[in-house]
Amino acid sequence: MFRFRVAIVTLIIFCCVGVVFAAPTQQSTPTPNLPQQNAELYATDPQPLTLEQCGQCHPQHFQGIKQMGGRHQFDCRECHTIFHAFNPRRDNYTAIMPQCSQCHVPVHGNKFTRCLACHQNPHMATKAPAVQIMVNICGECHSEQKRQLVAAPSAHTEVSCDSCHHTEHGSIPSCAECHEPHFETQEFSTCTACHDVHQPLIIAMGGDIELQTCSGCHGDIYTKWSTTASKHGQVRCNDCHDRHKQIPQCQDCHGIPDNHSAKMMARFPRCLDCHLDVHDLPVKR
Ligand code: HEC
Ligand code: HEC
Ligand code: HEC
Ligand code: HEC
Ligand code: HEC
Ligand code: HEC
Ligand code: HEC
Ligand code: HEC
Ligand code: HEC
Ligand code: HEC
Ligand code: HEC
Ligand code: HEC
Repeated sequence: MFRFRVAIVTLIIFCCVGVVFAAPTQQSTPTPNLPQQNAELYATDPQPLTLEQCGQCHPQHFQGIKQMGGRHQFDCRECHTIFHAFNPRRDNYTAIMPQCSQCHVPVHGNKFTRCLACHQNPHMATKAPAVQIMVNICGECHSEQKRQLVAAPSAHTEVSCDSCHHTEHGSIPSCAECHEPHFETQEFSTCTACHDVHQPLIIAMGGDIELQTCSGCHGDIYTKWSTTASKHGQVRCNDCHDRHKQIPQCQDCHGIPDNHSAKMMARFPRCLDCHLDVHDLPVKR
């Protein structure tokens, strides 16, 4: 009986010990999922991303440069020396973005240093800044046009730059938007032969300007001149009137003809006392 009890106690102890020993025995089996070292995976050297790959993930930027990048058509990383480094917690967006000053001096002078205010998309460098952004400051960069408009006052001085140059920066309006021609068939492409648009009342009358223009306001004289039998019909209006409203002297071209005696000239000092009408000289037909 004693032995039997001993056996039971022993069994119980054994069981307890067994429980005690069983647990650590189960835990010590190795976990099958831990990654194994594999040096072969690192036997390669990854190639840097190609420009095309940048374009695969950033199609808008790629297309922007392709279509309107102009002289910015070089590798993204020339500008983005740092990229894929934006961290919202560090709020470092501005710090990692390219600066124009990496490559440009302040091309328009020291007043215009916030480049992106006008050149809103650096990936589309040839896209002209919107006219609206630059209203009232045109003259800062185009001082010559502003100077002319002020120095030679005309109705155009009262017209703002952007109401003529209105569609996009650099656009040139046609005079036809606001004016009629001087005569019916006059081409609008010829207007600037006489009018510098920023000082339109200073009229250039040189060269082969279209003389029918004069008929718009001096119809009678134009008709007389174009039908006269005298040789003045072959002299161009602007050969005599080399500036608008200027009246030439006969002597500038003729001097005093030899057969016109001093005595005669003393009595009739004005050439037109005898020759009557300069635009239609009386001549023998
Ligand atoms: C001439 C320099 C220049 C080049 C070249 C350039 N970038 Fe940028 N990029 C910038 C600047 C400057 C900004 C910051 C613009 C801003 O803050 O408005 C920017 C912003 C970005 C941004 C973040 C803002 C956004 O528009 O989503 C991405 C993405 C980007 N560029 C991708 C590219 C990729 C891709 C290329 C090449 C295909 C490229 N860039 C070429 C200058 C450049
Ligand atoms: C596999 C896709 C992928 C490729 C390839 C890739 N990018 Fe990105 N890039 C992203 C994503 C996603 C973002 C974050 C979202 C966003 O700004 O469009 C990002 C953001 C950016 C940004 C703005 C934020 C920052 O942290 O700089 C720039 C600049 C940029 N990428 C440039 C490049 C350039 C340059 C290349 C090529 C050398 C390139 N990326 C290639 C996916 C890509
Ligand atoms: C990595 C150098 C680099 C950076 C950064 C850079 N540019 Fe340029 N950019 C050039 C080069 C090179 C040219 C062509 C030569 C020149 O005009 O000086 C150019 C030309 C331009 C042109 C004329 C484009 C054309 O094709 O006619 C504009 C506009 C311009 N850059 C604006 C900017 C602005 C705005 C920034 C800043 C957002 C900027 N650039 C940043 C290199 C750069
Ligand atoms: C107030 C608006 C404005 C600001 C600010 C501005 N630009 Fe411009 N920029 C223009 C306009 C307008 C043009 C003419 C574009 C065209 O040819 O249609 C121009 C043209 C350019 C050109 C090409 C023509 C040239 O002269 O070579 C470059 C390069 C340029 N800008 C760089 C810059 C840089 C760099 C900055 C910042 C330092 C800057 N711009 C700031 C309006 C601006
Ligand atoms: C920041 C400087 C800047 C500002 C502001 C600016 N421009 Fe310009 N503009 C330029 C540059 C640079 C050019 C290119 C000059 C060239 O190609 O000789 C240009 C070109 C032009 C041209 C075309 C010239 C040609 O020969 O075809 C016109 C027109 C023009 N600008 C009108 C304007 C008007 C109107 C404004 C105001 C709404 C304005 N610009 C504001 C810099 C500027
Ligand atoms: C956006 C409209 C507009 C455009 C474009 C325009 N003008 Fe004018 N122009 C005017 C206005 C407004 C006046 C004053 C009223 C009038 O005479 O019709 C004027 C007046 C004139 C005058 C008389 C100036 C004075 O002080 O009496 C001349 C000359 C003239 N324009 C020539 C031209 C020529 C040439 C062109 C084209 C190169 C042109 N204009 C383009 C609006 C314009
Ligand atoms: C009445 C309309 C009108 C007004 C106002 C006007 N322009 Fe012009 N501008 C033109 C026309 C038309 C041309 C083309 C002239 C030519 O082809 O000879 C021109 C040409 C230009 C050019 C190209 C270079 C040149 O002189 O031919 C620039 C730059 C320019 N204008 C800037 C300005 C600025 C800056 C202002 C305001 C200070 C202004 N313009 C006001 C109609 C106008
Ligand atoms: C052959 C030279 C010449 C040409 C070409 C010319 N003009 Fe004139 N224009 C003049 C003269 C001269 C005046 C009168 C100026 C004065 O009264 O001091 C004038 C006056 C004007 C006036 C103001 C007086 C008025 O009639 O309203 C406008 C507007 C005008 N021209 C527009 C134009 C337009 C538009 C064109 C092109 C279709 C054009 N001009 C072509 C010489 C010319
Ligand atoms: C051979 C030189 C000459 C030619 C050619 C000429 N003119 Fe004249 N024009 C003059 C002279 C000289 C006067 C001054 C006449 C006087 O004092 O009575 C004058 C006067 C004028 C006057 C102002 C006086 C008036 O009668 O109203 C106008 C207008 C005029 N010319 C327009 C024209 C036109 C238009 C043409 C071409 C169709 C033209 N001229 C061709 C020399 C010329
Ligand atoms: C848009 C109308 C217009 C056009 C076009 C025009 N003129 Fe005139 N012209 C005038 C006006 C207005 C006067 C001033 C008349 C006055 O003072 O009585 C004038 C005066 C003159 C005078 C001086 C008259 C004097 O009495 O001293 C001459 C010369 C003249 N023009 C020649 C021309 C010639 C040549 C052309 C063609 C190239 C021409 N004009 C085109 C409107 C014009
Ligand atoms: C711009 C120069 C110029 C001016 C100014 C000028 N003429 Fe003439 N004139 C000519 C020419 C050229 C002829 C033709 C000469 C020839 O073919 O031998 C001519 C011819 C003549 C003839 C001969 C006419 C004929 O048909 O045979 C007379 C007369 C004459 N001019 C008088 C005048 C008078 C008077 C004036 C001033 C009111 C005047 N001219 C102003 C250039 C001018
Ligand atoms: C007293 C009248 C008179 C005066 C004044 C006068 N002429 Fe004459 N002129 C004539 C006569 C007459 C002719 C010869 C016409 C003919 O033979 O057909 C003539 C001929 C001409 C011729 C034709 C070529 C020639 O030499 O025969 C020219 C040119 C001329 N005159 C220029 C002038 C000039 C210039 C003035 C002013 C300085 C002027 N005339 C003043 C009467 C005059």
